[in-house]
Amino acid sequence: PVLVVDFGAQYAQLIARRIREAGLYSEVIPHSASAAEFAARKPLAIVLSGGPSSVNEPGAPALDLGVFDLGVPIFGICYGFQIMATSLGGAVARTDKREYGSTPLTVTQPGALLAGQPGEQTVWMSHGDSVSRAPEGFTVLATTPGTEIAAFEDRARRCAGVQWHPEVLHSEHGQQVLETFLRDIAGLSTDWTSESVIAEQVARIREQVGDKQVICGLSGGVDSAVAAALVHEAVGDQLTCVFVDHGLLRQDERKQVEEDYVQSTGVRLVTVDAVDTFLGALAGVSDPEEKRKIIGREFIRAFEGAAADLVAEAAEGAGEAIEFLVQGTLYPDVVESGGGSGTANIKSHHNVGGLPDDLTFALVEPLRALFKDEVRAIGRELGLPEVIVSRQPFPGPGLAIRIIGEVTEERLDILRRADAIARAELTAAGLDAEIWQCPVVLLADVRSVGVQGDGRTYGHPVVLRPVSSEDAMTADWTRVPYDTLARISNRITNEVDEINRVVLDVTSKPPGTIEWE
Ligand code: XMP
Repeated sequence: PVLVVDFGAQYAQLIARRIREAGLYSEVIPHSASAAEFAARKPLAIVLSGGPSSVNEPGAPALDLGVFDLGVPIFGICYGFQIMATSLGGAVARTDKREYGSTPLTVTQPGALLAGQPGEQTVWMSHGDSVSRAPEGFTVLATTPGTEIAAFEDRARRCAGVQWHPEVLHSEHGQQVLETFLRDIAGLSTDWTSESVIAEQVARIREQVGDKQVICGLSGGVDSAVAAALVHEAVGDQLTCVFVDHGLLRQDERKQVEEDYVQSTGVRLVTVDAVDTFLGALAGVSDPEEKRKIIGREFIRAFEGAAADLVAEAAEGAGEAIEFLVQGTLYPDVVESGGGSGTANIKSHHNVGGLPDDLTFALVEPLRALFKDEVRAIGRELGLPEVIVSRQPFPGPGLAIRIIGEVTEERLDILRRADAIARAELTAAGLDAEIWQCPVVLLADVRSVGVQGDGRTYGHPVVLRPVSSEDAMTADWTRVPYDTLARISNRITNEVDEINRVVLDVTSKPPGTIEWE
């Protein structure tokens, strides 16, 4: 892989993603890894990411200097650019000219790295220190008002770096910089694609599972759907999928799983009808954490029940128990739970509907190395229907945490209808790619006065919560065009009798979370 060194900010994952977009498989590695650990992962190239510290501060995140002697091409970004400078004999100094945000860049000497790029361009900067002397053998390529040395390269050593952040979209030719480095300076071929991932994973799953039985819980979401499809591609009918209908799903989701998904994949599916159990357990509960606990517990019970039935059947038939459980774990979860570099773990609740830990299965996790958009690309490649592949993230506890107040069948029905309208209109307006997800939240205990036709109404409000995000850790509210908002509002208030008001949530994350509960 191309290894992206994490110096403790959130840049590393984004860089890893951009490198994959450039057609090379990449992984994140902590800066504390030794040179031997770097070497053991057989890197094709190493990219040093940005970080929040100053290289000259005591205790600033460092890098084993031996990494520079591995003979591997190295690219430095921001903090990584400065680490490269000081490690190879250059210098970094604190300047008074802090640059933050969009900054004009002048290319003084394009070299290989900036060849073919405009002489003047806008890049995105975030630094207080600057490289004050380039290491010997390096050519300086560009300057900004705040730093004379904004980029350098040494082609003989296959090293280069930039002070700006090429991975963010605000840097005009950022992706081109990364691609040029990988292709022209590092000399790598860019041929990592969905097909190659599928072939590799299918082989790996076959090796892991052999001729044993496998079980997978389908949530209706993208990750479990694609994970199951990959496993099915690898071991066919050794896989059984279990879908628990807890009654907290959105309109048509059960159908999407039971019909569309089964038709396009041919997987064997067992549906557990658990609506009454779940709603019974949720009766009278309005505390969000309490709801999550109940749903998690009931889910595990339902899943265990289905698994036990399957085991019993299998024992009578082929005489073989189920040994493997498929999980749709993604790469960001792996980095966040194992990275240990101080990123707060806010996501422990994200596997509700996933892991009954006391079941003794070995895990099959074919998506562990992938980002969400790559999972979608693989799903398409495997022929999954677009309604499933392009589905926006949906929380395990479902609509239960989008009803503020007690969850009842009637309230679920109201919310389901409003949600279906919002989704249909956002899709029709072509906004699905721009919007990460758009929770519709029913304020079930709030009523307000309205007027409709010639009568007074006293109904509930729903909140639209469209957000844009790269990974759900941070988000901004999406600027949905007024016309689209108007259409959604009109349709919901006309078509869903119990709702007489539609409001828009204009809070970013932080401070708001994406969901209301
Ligand atoms: P928040 O509300 O924490 O949501 O900003 C971040 C992302 O996580 C989803 N989410 C959940 N997913 N179980 C899940 O499986 C949960 O309990 C849960 N709570 C939030 C949310 O939809 C968003 O994508």
